[in-house]
Amino acid sequence: MVNATGAVAADVLVEGEKIAALLTPGFAIAADRVVDAAGKYVIPGGIDAHTHMEMPFGGTFSADTFASGTTAAAWGGTTTIIDFAVQAKGTSLMSTLDKWHTKADGNCAVDYGFHMIVSDVNDTSLKEMESCADAGVNSFKMFMAYPGVFYATDGEILRAMQKAREIGGTVMMHAENGIAIDQLVAQALARGRTAPVEHGLTRPPELEGEATSRAITLAAVTGAPLYVVHLSAAQALDAVARARDTGQNVFAETCPQYLYLSLEDLAKPDFEGAKYVASPPLRPREHQAELWRGLRTNDLSVVSTDHCPFCFKDQKELGRGNFAKIPNGIPGVEHRVDLLHQGVVRGEISLERWVEISSTTPARMFGLHPRKGVIAPGADADVVVYDPRARQTISAATHHMAVDYSAYEGMELTGKVDTVLSRGRVVVDAEGFHGRIGHGRFLTRELNQYLV
Ligand code: URP
Ligand code: ZN
Ligand code: ZN
Ligand code: ZN
Repeated sequence: MVNATGAVAADVLVEGEKIAALLTPGFAIAADRVVDAAGKYVIPGGIDAHTHMEMPFGGTFSADTFASGTTAAAWGGTTTIIDFAVQAKGTSLMSTLDKWHTKADGNCAVDYGFHMIVSDVNDTSLKEMESCADAGVNSFKMFMAYPGVFYATDGEILRAMQKAREIGGTVMMHAENGIAIDQLVAQALARGRTAPVEHGLTRPPELEGEATSRAITLAAVTGAPLYVVHLSAAQALDAVARARDTGQNVFAETCPQYLYLSLEDLAKPDFEGAKYVASPPLRPREHQAELWRGLRTNDLSVVSTDHCPFCFKDQKELGRGNFAKIPNGIPGVEHRVDLLHQGVVRGEISLERWVEISSTTPARMFGLHPRKGVIAPGADADVVVYDPRARQTISAATHHMAVDYSAYEGMELTGKVDTVLSRGRVVVDAEGFHGRIGHGRFLTRELNQYLV
């Protein structure tokens, strides 16, 4: 059994939906069902703190529903997702939350929570942040990118941070300088540069570093905790590391795509690069070593997927002839636990750190610990039996996400999910999927448990 705090040989006793006890091997008592985990790891179910199911974007919706996306998550050993409710300009936060409950409630195979995307900062929505927190949604994503859509000015960010500070909430930041990026995008298009790789070239890493620094400064001025989402660039990591060295409540996540994929993928010919369009963009390969280092030093605390699938055939196609119209997002909810396990195989991170960044820290960061993120008596029996020696090859032909390609097509992995329990129920085993759409429950979350 592997927790973030260490690995020991133990039998895990599950009663109903909870872990009842950890027993010394050989002292097992009679059970209705025994899952043999000899030679395998028993780990807390993965928590993907950044997904976008059925998300409206650029006139279309991300391809996974809550049903298909949470089923794919379960297949990959993720037993909790935290998805983003998206406030449309001119609408209220609470009606947005209602809307997302309508989409997700009764439709999830594993447990789920929400963050709130605040795209319209005004007196009403600021006040509503309090009601969101009371409803178990106390993390608020804002955007320094996408002018005219989600973009918030520094003043708006400042006001939202002041409110977050007041209620103990966390501001999550999409940190790219969207005003400067939009100029670079217009200039590229005016020169007839329309291919997917231009998406990466017009969003340089310096503009992620700059925005990250600015967000950190605004957080310092207001005293609000800051969580930088989908950090991709060494420049942004430097800014986070500096802030953390001063003791500021600044945290960051990266995503598997930034650890394994690069600008070269975005440059694939014949529009294939469109499969890799997400924001921030994939970076030149040299950023990857920095991100792995950040995971070791804890300047990067979490790895989430930013799962946002758009089909290559009919959705990414919207941007053929104009890279700026390619729906932004990469699928990945099914493979995060496996991809991070390669970090253990390659000696980048320890076994315990693997569990920490994929389950325990997201649980604490988003107020789900010790109910989630740990194998311990009293915790939900979200348990994954993981075979560290099994081999698998990622392919869209075999994955369970409702999207027609895999960004990791053909990648050979060591390690594979063997059995998955969600709140005590076996949802995946060698025979297949035994879960049920509607089994997943909404999680009201406590405040960030890392705040000082
Ligand atoms: O390209 C991305 N990341 N799409 C999802 C929306 C976001 O900004 O997280
Ligand atoms: Zn974002
Ligand atoms: Zn996202
Ligand atoms: Zn079975």
